[in-house]
Amino acid sequence: MEQVNIALAGFGTVGTGLARIMHENGEWIRRRLGKELVIRRVLVRNPEKERSFVLGPETEITADLDSFLLAQDTDIVVELIGGIETPLRIVTGALRAGKHVVTANKALLAEKGPELFRLASELQRGLYYEASVAGGIPIVQTLKESLAGNRIRHITGILNGTANSILSDMTNNGMDYAAALGQAQRNGYAEADPTMDVEGIDAAHKLILLIRLAYGQDFPLARMGIKGISGVDPYDIELARAFGYRIKLLAIVKEHSGRLQAGVFPYLVGEDHILARVDGPFNSILLEGNGVGPIMLYGQGAGDLPTGSAVLSDIMALASGKPPNNTGFVEAVLPEASTLEPELTTTRHYFRFTALDRPGVLAAIAGVLGERSISIAQVVQKQHPVGRGVPVVFLTHTAQVRDVEAALSQINGFSFVLSPAVHYRIL
Ligand SMILES: NC(=O)c1ccc[n+]([C@@H]2O[C@H](COP(=O)([O-])OP(=O)(O)OC[C@H]3O[C@@H](n4cnc5c(N)ncnc54)[C@H](OP(=O)(O)O)[C@@H]3O)[C@@H](O)[C@H]2O)c1
Repeated sequence: MEQVNIALAGFGTVGTGLARIMHENGEWIRRRLGKELVIRRVLVRNPEKERSFVLGPETEITADLDSFLLAQDTDIVVELIGGIETPLRIVTGALRAGKHVVTANKALLAEKGPELFRLASELQRGLYYEASVAGGIPIVQTLKESLAGNRIRHITGILNGTANSILSDMTNNGMDYAAALGQAQRNGYAEADPTMDVEGIDAAHKLILLIRLAYGQDFPLARMGIKGISGVDPYDIELARAFGYRIKLLAIVKEHSGRLQAGVFPYLVGEDHILARVDGPFNSILLEGNGVGPIMLYGQGAGDLPTGSAVLSDIMALASGKPPNNTGFVEAVLPEASTLEPELTTTRHYFRFTALDRPGVLAAIAGVLGERSISIAQVVQKQHPVGRGVPVVFLTHTAQVRDVEAALSQINGFSFVLSPAVHYRIL
């Protein structure tokens, strides 16, 4: 049987997960592919380290990047290291040496995607990345192939399992942010440095990849509005709940008359909305195509076997010998996205002010909102003081972010407002 030789850069969580599925499903893979997949070599930092999966004698383990890249018998290079610098060297080196590449690295593809896809296209090599967005959920293939004929109206995703598990613990188990982060780290959902996950950057990277697949445009990270969850106060989770909402970190892109609006923000999501029920480390993507209508995908966004399963699907697609389809578009270089300014976003809003309890406060705040055409849907003044002030919560009808920012800055300047307004968008 023909053999397809794989060189695996990185043998951590995803690398071992991949090796385990390839081993467990070896017979099944041979039946589907008519070829045998062989992990010929593995690149790691420390070849002596004990691994949770023991590779067979056919696999060489090395820490020497040059010999790893120069090996003549490799067909497919799989990059599962993470970060940018070394993966960029591996991916470009592998493509230039005529190999196909599979990666799970969203940061690399969000930041260096245009140059890497151009190189892969020039060299007619595959650069596949199913595992880079939402782990085990097959969203890349879905957008690239299954929905290729649809115009995508919007995508709304819970794309970061770490942030979602923290928010779930804060909502369901009454934890504060620090306790929920600690729990996520103990469960293995959060890294020692959780910045990329909790500040929304990882979700933004994934959204850039989804935009490329759905719209054939490169959306610059610098033009994307991004806010994470590290500032979420349990008090707002409690208030949101009382109004019938849950707080979720959402990555959203919408098309408005040919221009794209995209961002990552914590949102209030109605508790009967399908995304409100996505809890813990799970991911979900809700999208709408003009032919297919709404679709929702749900599954494990991380973990050794789910992510390994997505990497394996790319390896099998490339090993099949079909001509590669990297972005789902024929152009070698995709155009930069035509974007709508983030401040022109219209959505509903939640504000919490902490103000002195005295007459005229509500009227003054409502007056500023009215001047900016922000129409109020609900107002609640809580009875229990917080420090010297009382919380006043406003839920609005749809209003433009630009007007909201101007109104909040004016209201924050009032002498009776004791701390800056807390603001969330409502889905
Ligand atoms: N973990 C997930 O659930 C998940 C989900 C989706 C996507 N991803 C992506 O998949 C990639 C891998 O993630 P992971 O969680 O598997 O990472 P990981 O557990 O930290 O494993 C990284 C591996 O890369 C090796 N490595 C790191 N730096 C290296 C260097 N300079 N030279 C050679 N080898 C090096 C490490 O070697 P040693 O073992 O010797 O230290 C380790 O085997 C990342 O891009 C990540 O964003 C991960």
